[in-house]
Amino acid sequence: MFHTSTPVVGEEFHNRATELDQVARSIEKLSAGAPKWVAIIGPRKIGKTSLVLEAARRAYSPSLRVVVLDTQEQSPVSGEVFRHLALRVLDAAFATEVGESLERLIHSPAGYRAALLRSENFGRLPSVLRSELLEIPEGRVTDERIRSWLDAPERLAEALGLWIVVALDEFQDLAGLSPKDFALFARLRSVWQRHRRVTYFISGSARSMLLTLVTEEASPFFQHFSILELGPFTRDAAIELLRRPGPGSRPVPAELAGRAVSAIGGNPFYLQLLGETLMAMPGTPDESDLKVAFQALLFSPTGRLALFFENDFRRIVGRSTYLAATLDALGTGPASLTEVASRIGTSTAATAGYLERLKDAVTKTEEGLYRLADPTFGLWLRWRRPGGTVVPMSVIGDAAEQAVARELSATGFDLVYQSRASRGAFDLLATRAAVQLGVQVKRSSLPLRFTKAEWSRMSAEAAKLTWRWVVAAVASDGTISILDPGRAKRGREVRLDASATIENLLQWIDRTARRS
Ligand SMILES: Nc1ncnc2c1ncn2[C@@H]1O[C@H](COP(=O)(O)OP(=O)(O)OP(=O)(O)O)[C@@H](O)[C@H]1O
Ligand SMILES: [Mg+2]
Repeated sequence: MFHTSTPVVGEEFHNRATELDQVARSIEKLSAGAPKWVAIIGPRKIGKTSLVLEAARRAYSPSLRVVVLDTQEQSPVSGEVFRHLALRVLDAAFATEVGESLERLIHSPAGYRAALLRSENFGRLPSVLRSELLEIPEGRVTDERIRSWLDAPERLAEALGLWIVVALDEFQDLAGLSPKDFALFARLRSVWQRHRRVTYFISGSARSMLLTLVTEEASPFFQHFSILELGPFTRDAAIELLRRPGPGSRPVPAELAGRAVSAIGGNPFYLQLLGETLMAMPGTPDESDLKVAFQALLFSPTGRLALFFENDFRRIVGRSTYLAATLDALGTGPASLTEVASRIGTSTAATAGYLERLKDAVTKTEEGLYRLADPTFGLWLRWRRPGGTVVPMSVIGDAAEQAVARELSATGFDLVYQSRASRGAFDLLATRAAVQLGVQVKRSSLPLRFTKAEWSRMSAEAAKLTWRWVVAAVASDGTISILDPGRAKRGREVRLDASATIENLLQWIDRTARRS
C-alpha cells in the first residue's frame, strides 16, 4: 500500500538504514544518561518525522516516550508553542492511563485538572511539580512560565523513571520569537543542557538557517547537535519503494519503475503519490498508465503534486513577480548569474538579490551555476509556462511523441495524456480553445498502412468523443507529417500517403469546422 497523508512507520517505512542507525545511537545514549542531540535537516516531505517515529518505534521500551511538535502547527509562532509542548509531554506520560488527551483539554482548565487528577502516576509526583503541571492551560505566557514548561519533561522523566525524546519540527521558525538574535535559543540551550533524561531532535526544511544555527560559532547551539542531512532515496531504493506490492495489486514492472524514478526523482513522498495513482488504475501498470499518472499528479492544475508545488511556489515567492520570474528562469536548467539576469531582463545586482531571497529553493553547483534544489519542482515550473504542455511528453514520452508535441505546441495547441478510458484509440489529445484533436502517433515513414478494423476503431472513437482527429507520422530521421484521415485511400487496407499531408493545421481545422 502507498501512504501519503501521514508520516510512515513500521511496514510502511522503507530504506534509511544508516539514518535510522544514527538516530538509534542517539536514543541509546539517552538511556545511558548522556543525551546527544540531533539536527535533522532536509526539504519538505523528505521523511523527517517518519524517521524520528520509526527510530523511536524500533527503540521501544516501556519507559521511552517520544513527543513530536511542529512549530508551524500554530501560526503565527508564539510562546504558546512551549505550553503545547509541555502538554504534549504530559500526554506522553499520562494520556494512556487517563484515557484522553490532556492537550485537547487546553481550553477547558477544569476538565484538564479533573483528568490529570484521575491518574495514579500523577498523584505520585512531588507536590510542587503537581501544582505547576495543573496550571499549564491557564494564564498568560511569561518568561518564568516558559522556563517551567521547558523544564517539565526532565522533571517528569525523573519522577516517573521515563526517557523522553522531544522532536521539534520546523525548529528554525522559533527564531521569529525573539527579536534579539539567538536570545531564545540561548535560553533553550541553557535549560536543555541540564537535562539528563530528555534528548532533543530538531528538524526543519530551511536548510541554511538550521545549518547556521547548529554550525556557526556565534550560535548558542554551536557544536551541540550532530547533523543528519536527509536527502532523496537512491535510485535503487526509490525503485524498490515503487515496486513494493500491496494487497490485491500487482507490482509496477521493474523497467517502468526505473523510468518513473528517472522522471520523478527520489523524494519518498512523490514516489508514494505516484504509486498511489498507479495503483488506482486497473491491472498491472503499463507505460501509458505511467504517462497518465504523471499527467494527473504533476501536470494538471488539480494534481496532488501540482497543488503541493503551487503552495510551495506561493510560499517562496510571496507577491513578488520578480522572485516568480527568477524561479521560472531556473526552471529551464542551471544558469550563471548573468544568464539568469538576462532571462528575467534585469541587472545582475538585482538578480543576485532575488536569488538570495529564494533561499533554499535555489542552490549553487560546483561550477558556480545557480539551480533549483528540487528538479521535480523545476518540471512543474516548466509545465505551467506558456507552451509548457509539451513538458510531460519530454519527460515520459518517446522521441516521436515529443516531436509531435513540439510541432503541435508551435501552432498553439496544448497537449495532454488522457486516461485509456477517456482517450479511446488516441495517444494524445491536443486542445486549442474549443477544438479537441485526437492524435494518433505512428513511428514510421510514409505511406502508413492501417487494417480496416484499426481504422474504423479510430473513426468510431473520434465520432463518439466528438473530436477531430489526425495521424502524425514520425519518420526515423525525425520528419513529422500531420495527415488528414479524410484523404485516406481505402482498399483492402487503409493507406495514408504524402498526398494526405496537412500543410497548415489551423486552416485545416477552420475548414473542417465549417464543413461539419
Ligand atoms: N522512509 C520512508 N518510506 C516510505 N515512505 C516515506 C518514508 N519517508 C517518508 N515517506 C513518505 O513521505 C511522506 C512525508 O513523510 P514525513 O511526514 O515523514 O516527511 P517530513 O519531512 O516530516 O514532512 P514535512 O515537511 O511535512 O514535515 C510520508 O507520508 C510518506 O508518504
Ligand atoms: Mg514533518
